[in-house]
Amino acid sequence: MRDSEFDFIRSLVYERSRINLGPDKRQLVSARLGKRLRATNMPDLTAYCEFLQQPGADQELGHLIDAISTNHTFFFREIAHFDFLRDKAIPEMMERARAERWNSFRVWSAASSSGEEAYSIAITLTQRLPNFPWEIEATDISRRILAKAAAAIYPEETVRRLPPEVVRTHFQRGFGPQEGNYRVKAALRDRVHFHHLNLLEGEPPFPGLFQVIFCRNVMIYFDRPTQEELVSRLTRRLVPGGYLMVGHSESLTHLRHSLRAVRPAIYQKSFGS
Ligand SMILES: C[S@@+](CC[C@H](N)C(=O)[O-])C[C@H]1O[C@@H](n2cnc3c(N)ncnc32)[C@H](O)[C@@H]1O
Repeated sequence: MRDSEFDFIRSLVYERSRINLGPDKRQLVSARLGKRLRATNMPDLTAYCEFLQQPGADQELGHLIDAISTNHTFFFREIAHFDFLRDKAIPEMMERARAERWNSFRVWSAASSSGEEAYSIAITLTQRLPNFPWEIEATDISRRILAKAAAAIYPEETVRRLPPEVVRTHFQRGFGPQEGNYRVKAALRDRVHFHHLNLLEGEPPFPGLFQVIFCRNVMIYFDRPTQEELVSRLTRRLVPGGYLMVGHSESLTHLRHSLRAVRPAIYQKSFGS
């Protein structure tokens, strides 16, 4: 891959997603672009870069971001966040709910990938809030991964790690062509709403504030000014006293922000804002 091609792809990806590809990502970019070259029938990277500059390349730009970004995730990843949600955030917010006349408990999974995070939140909320309305909004920049999230079909090995009772209650075992897969049952699926969103562009396609926002394992791909901008955007969408969960490798320590650190990778919005 030539310097000029790497620089071109790098700035295009930054402009579109704010994902910051450092020089150490050159190998990875080159490997991942191989797939796009084959899919678009381009003979080489020079031709592919030219193709991306033509009018109408918008769809391919989406595929490019998809190929570059990492969607790795799993159910109940970083379990401490789900323990905190269950044992601290929900009881605390429920005490406030009546006095502050909230009519639902709202959680946003802000870089949801294929949906495991959002469904793990949904499982926690059905268990802990059987008699109070709740809503989950989930967003991602990748349309491909959002389609997977909405379909909610997962291979057995990812579901096998969950307690058998959770699997029995919330998943259907596939048969025939779906043998070896499990699907989240409609009762849970219907309560999670997936939307396309670039977290750094425009406003989310839903109004209102959230008691808890999960924005995990996406900030590591952004540079510092972008991380600060993102934290500030998310903070605006929290109720006073609401919680922001970030990935355990994404401490906000070196960023400018107005949140209070309450636990590793858990931050709270102040009550005065
Ligand atoms: C590694 S996954 C994290 C999934 C989940 N939050 C977790 O912690 O397991 C990162 C996700 O961030 C998404 N992403 C990357 N840049 C984004 C942006 N600018 N706006 C919204 N989502 C983005 C990617 O498409 C990917 O699905």
